[in-house]
Amino acid sequence: MNTLKNLQLLIEDAVGKLSYPVTPAELYEPITYILSIGGKRMRPALLLMACDMFGGDVKKAISPALAIEVFHNFTLVHDDIMDNAPLRRGKATVHEKWNPNTGILSGDVMLVEAYKLMMQVDDGILLNVLEIFSNTAIGVCEGQQFDMNFEQQSHVQIDDYINMIRLKTAVLLGGALNIGALIGGASAKDAGLLYTFGEQLGIAFQLQDDILDVYGDPEKFGKQVGGDIISNKKTFLLIKALELAGEQEKQVLNQWLNAANFDAVEKVSAVTDIYNALGIRQQAEEAVYTYAAKGFEALDKLSVAEDKKQYLRSFADGLMVREK
Ligand code: IPE
Ligand code: IPE
Ligand code: MG
Ligand code: MG
Ligand code: MG
Repeated sequence: MNTLKNLQLLIEDAVGKLSYPVTPAELYEPITYILSIGGKRMRPALLLMACDMFGGDVKKAISPALAIEVFHNFTLVHDDIMDNAPLRRGKATVHEKWNPNTGILSGDVMLVEAYKLMMQVDDGILLNVLEIFSNTAIGVCEGQQFDMNFEQQSHVQIDDYINMIRLKTAVLLGGALNIGALIGGASAKDAGLLYTFGEQLGIAFQLQDDILDVYGDPEKFGKQVGGDIISNKKTFLLIKALELAGEQEKQVLNQWLNAANFDAVEKVSAVTDIYNALGIRQQAEEAVYTYAAKGFEALDKLSVAEDKKQYLRSFADGLMVREK
C-alpha cells in the first residue's frame, strides 16, 4: 500500500500538470488560479485510498481523482458567488478577482472538464462510474438549493439541515470513495460500505466547517470568519441556538436575523456571544463525533484487513481536528 504522503504527492503533481488553453484568458485563468491556491485535496486522496485498499492500480485512479477535485473546485467557485464570499484559501475568490459572470462560465467549463477526466476510467466500469458521478453532482446541486432556501426560512429543523449538508457536502465524499473502490475492484457491498463511511464522515466534516466558520482562526481558515452568520445560514449552530435560547436571547437572535441593514462585525459578535452563552460550540462538536462514529461503524464492517481500515480511520481523525 502507498503512504498517504505518497498519494498526496501524486495528486499535487497531477493537479500541477493540468493545463488549459490560453484564450479566452478570462475563461481559463480562473481555473488555473483556483486549482493553484491550495486546498486540502481530501476528496482525491479518499478516492486513491479507496482504490489502494482493494489492491487496485493507483495510476488508473489518478484521472478520476482529478475529476473529483476539479468538480469540487467548480462547486466552490459557484458557491462563493452564491454565498457572496470574498475569501477562499486565504486569497480573493474568483468572482472578486474577476467578476461573477466569469466565475459562472469558468465554473461551467470546470464541470465539463471534470467529466472528461472521469471518462478516462476503464470501459468495463465507465457507465457505472458516470452514473455515480452524475447522481453525486445532482445531489450537490440539490443540497446547495436547500442551503439557499433555508437562508430565507425562519424555521429549519435539525433533520432538514442534516439532509441539506448530506447532499451539498457528504455525497461527494461518498461518491469519491465509491468510485475509488470500484476502480480498485471492490465488491458492491464493500463499495456501498465505503460510500456510507464517506457520507457520515462528510456530515461530520460540514458540521466542523460550520463550527470553523464562527470559531476558526481567520489566518488558518482562509475564509471570511462569520460569513454564515452574516448571511443567516441555517447552520447546526444557529438552529440549536434558536432551540435553546431563552425569550430574551431569542428576541436578540431574531432581531439580527431580520435586520436589513446592519454592521457585519457587530452582528457576528452579537450572535457569537449568544452561541457562547448557550454552549453551542460544544453541542456542535458532540454532533461531529456522533456522525464520525457512524462513519467508523460502516468502516468496521468492510471485508479488508484491519491495517487498511486504520489507514482511513487515521485520515478521518486528522480531518476532525483540522483548522482549515
Ligand atoms: C470546502 O471544502 C467546502 C465544504 C464542503 C466545507 P474543503 O474544506 O475540502 O476545501 P479545500 O478544498 O480544502 O479548500
Ligand atoms: C459548501 O458549503 C458546499 C459546497 C461547496 C458544495 P459552504 O458554503 O459552507 O462551503 P465554504 O464554507 O464556502 O467552503
Ligand atoms: Mg460557501
Ligand atoms: Mg455555501
Ligand atoms: Mg462553510
